[in-house]
Amino acid sequence: MSTSILFVCLGNICRSPLAEGAFRAEAERHGIEAEIGSAGTGSWHAGQAPDARACAIAKERGVDISDQLARQITRRDFNRYDHIVALDAQVLADLQAMRPGDASAALSLFLDHVAGREGQDVADPYYGGDEGFAVTWDDAAAGAKALVELLMRDQRSA
Ligand code: 4NP
Repeated sequence: MSTSILFVCLGNICRSPLAEGAFRAEAERHGIEAEIGSAGTGSWHAGQAPDARACAIAKERGVDISDQLARQITRRDFNRYDHIVALDAQVLADLQAMRPGDASAALSLFLDHVAGREGQDVADPYYGGDEGFAVTWDDAAAGAKALVELLMRDQRSA
């Protein structure tokens, strides 16, 4: 059984591309088959590659995210993906507000999947320095690990 998961932040150039990259790497390590994507609630950066600082930290950690392209989430995504995971609480609230009545996707907050981090946001590193991106990577990697464990449990019980 395969699954699909979409990571969503504001601009789709910092946090959700790192979440997508970290999750893709973790899923591959565990042989999990999944359709994996990311999107933003905003459209400002649509069509752009991830922020250079996000690409740099991912590369340092052994993951290439440079071929990703930003896009804005659409209402169709709510029926195309099994899981839609928001990187912060504001994004989650915005997704809940735009969620169509017949949506099949399960919405969740990224760090709610990490024991001890429930309710926390992945902080937006966009306006800060490089060190913020290292924190974002660590958060992305922790969430990716927890989500892959969850999906492996789901796939075993399906
Ligand atoms: P992201 O970061 O949501 O993690 O991709 C941001 C990128 C761009 C902007 C805000 C957040 N912006 O306002 O342009």
